Amino acid sequence: MPPVPHLMTLADLTGPQISRVINHAHHLKQVSLPWLDPQYSKSYGKRARLRMPSQSLFNKSIALLFSKRSTRTRLAAETASLLLGGRALFLGQDDIQLGVNESARDTAMVIGGMCQGIFARVGDHSEIEELAKYSPVPVLNALSSLWHPTQILADLLTLHEHAHLFDADAKQPPVDSHYRTAPLAKLRPLTVAYVGDSANVLHDMLVTYPRLGHSLRVATPPQAAYQAPEPVWERVKQLGCDKKIWWGTDPREAVHGADVVVTDTWISMGQELEKEQRLKDFQGYQVTEALCKEGGANPDWKFLHCLPRKQHEVDDDVFYGERSLVFPEAENRKWTIMAAFDLLFGKWDMTSTTAPV
Ligand code: CP
Ligand code: NVA
Repeated sequence: MPPVPHLMTLADLTGPQISRVINHAHHLKQVSLPWLDPQYSKSYGKRARLRMPSQSLFNKSIALLFSKRSTRTRLAAETASLLLGGRALFLGQDDIQLGVNESARDTAMVIGGMCQGIFARVGDHSEIEELAKYSPVPVLNALSSLWHPTQILADLLTLHEHAHLFDADAKQPPVDSHYRTAPLAKLRPLTVAYVGDSANVLHDMLVTYPRLGHSLRVATPPQAAYQAPEPVWERVKQLGCDKKIWWGTDPREAVHGADVVVTDTWISMGQELEKEQRLKDFQGYQVTEALCKEGGANPDWKFLHCLPRKQHEVDDDVFYGERSLVFPEAENRKWTIMAAFDLLFGKWDMTSTTAPV
């Protein structure tokens, strides 16, 4: 038997492997969208001519082991599993014995006997490492204290889909004869600014963007609590990503030359008791037109946010304005999670670099 593949962070994949997942997500999106279109649903004849998305989860069940709230990640996982022919089972923390009567080890063994994959959202990152250590089926990180890999897959797909906004010459390449859907447009090297807390979303950006040719500029408040933890820096340095990261405390400096500005919540799930202190410490970090103008961002800068969003992180003008890509980004959680499920749970084939069959 091959070793069970798991994905804890995008640091576990090479740059070409990450690009392959993004391209596969784009392919699955093109193939799946017509099935969801009411125009096609009306006519059996038209539907019969549609291509089927991968059915690698046919007759398979995926456990969504979530100890924290979720809107996007859960919806994406449930709807993507359906399109792949399988079923996702939501197991919230009040539904199962884990953490009260039963260990992670026993839970992983039991789920692994009945399901073909575990998509887990946990508190401390060590909890998902423990599940992966004992699980006989692949474990995919749906968010932990350290990492949020599937979020960055969606962000990258969204940026590729909007490549023409950053480069007037970016064109869709010709249809690939093997894959038979138009591949994604190439993205020119971007300057991506992140203004906010050093949390799971930023951490997966740090280990990913530099390897795909993009530069990162980060501003967090100066206190130790808002710096990247040692295990994250170790991975960043091991991968040589630090050479393309500028890190400071001034949000204006961070957005200098930015093509994309990104933020996340200032109060991650589980940090609710720190709310008052955090709101004080993050004063001046709200993403606004004025901040980006003063800092000298690219006049055509675009905005990303993983959601859920609070107004103190980004004002309404930016969040609901023309620069914002947040709702296509949210939808792309589905297509990228579908690609990750297909490759990891359906095919055990996350680490290849050629188009999946
Ligand atoms: N972005 C994200 O992970 O959203 P949810 O917490 O709603 O899943
Ligand atoms: N950093 C946030 C991300 C939510 C999607 C959190 O952990 O709550």
